[in-house]
Amino acid sequence: MKDVFSPFKIKNLNFKNRFIRSATHDWLGNEDGSISERQIALYKDLAIGGTGLIMSGHSCVEFPRGRAGIKQNRIDDDRFIDDYRKMSDIIHENGSLFAVQISHAGAQTNKDAINNLEPIDHNTMDIDDINVLTDAFTKAALRVRLSGADAVCVHMAHGYFLCRTLFSDSNKREDEFGKSIANRSKIALKIIDSVRSAVGKDYPIFVKLNSTGGTGEGHVGIEELVGVSTLLDEHGVDLIEISGGAVGSKDNPIDRLNILKIEDEGYFLERAKVVRKNVSSPMSIVGGIRSLSLMNEIIGSGVADFISLSRPFIREPDLVTRLKNGQEKVSCISCSKCRNFDGIRCVFNK
Ligand SMILES: Cc1cc2nc3c(=O)[nH]c(=O)nc-3n(C[C@H](O)[C@H](O)[C@H](O)COP(=O)(O)O)c2cc1C
Ligand code: SF4
Repeated sequence: MKDVFSPFKIKNLNFKNRFIRSATHDWLGNEDGSISERQIALYKDLAIGGTGLIMSGHSCVEFPRGRAGIKQNRIDDDRFIDDYRKMSDIIHENGSLFAVQISHAGAQTNKDAINNLEPIDHNTMDIDDINVLTDAFTKAALRVRLSGADAVCVHMAHGYFLCRTLFSDSNKREDEFGKSIANRSKIALKIIDSVRSAVGKDYPIFVKLNSTGGTGEGHVGIEELVGVSTLLDEHGVDLIEISGGAVGSKDNPIDRLNILKIEDEGYFLERAKVVRKNVSSPMSIVGGIRSLSLMNEIIGSGVADFISLSRPFIREPDLVTRLKNGQEKVSCISCSKCRNFDGIRCVFNK
């Protein structure tokens, strides 16, 4: 019977277990967007701690317009490749795999982050601008591959640019990029296809996908989610990580607090189950998963192939080793007080 400690393979990647440290922006980066020594130390600890794959925090593909906030890492220029090579090397030396999440903030940013420019409006941007962003994602993905990281993850969740293009609650376009599921998926698929042609057919491309719509408010219909996931699957993505919510919505993943009872865990599970029935690509699920028994149930039943966790790894970077040694659930109480603009830190850790 497969469980969270069973190995898995995606293309040439051999996962030693089913744990993914999900993307976590840490406010530890240097002001210029490069990777800091504190980040290297954090990722080294996570790798030593035994997780199968570590996903970087969202790294912006265009600067400054694509930046979501200060101290965010950047991948919009070749000069950042060496930083990611250093990160890849330290993670590999300590036994984990590494993926880099690439992202454009779109409308979900603030003027300080984008040097007082106008944020991108996904509803009014023209084809030239769509091409500019496609090129930005493509070059960023190529940089990820050149750095030696094991996979690239295209961020389509939490209300950032691509998330808002995909769903009817946020995409109000009347042209060929709006009105139907197929049309709304066009920008994301154009980017996936372009990334694929740049990184090659053997390189794993992951996506983090919202299951609740573009802004996460009100939850779009399940047929939209199935439609988008099916198209991503058909376009050859190698892993779909199911998430939901957006900054400011009631479902914002980091505003889901006090997940202490098992019945409160895994709040995107029902939506993930529907996606699972419709796609053949490997899947992960993220969002408030806390108990080893639930993790094993998810993996054992095949609803997902991976369990992604964020906050639990902030409190316990060695969580996987602990669970393997008999701990039954994470110690994190989901208070989100680790969200510290001077650098993430669990308030319970000395
Ligand atoms: C401090 C912090 C930063 C985060 N940064 C990102 C990010 O860069 N990209 C992303 O896709 N999700 C990000 N998330 C969301 C997590 O990956 C995850 O989806 C969410 O926290 C729910 O999982 P959890 O309940 O295990 O924490 C962040 C979460 C936290 C707590
Ligand atoms: S501060 Fe600590 S216990 Fe609270 S959510 Fe963050 S990691 Fe978990």
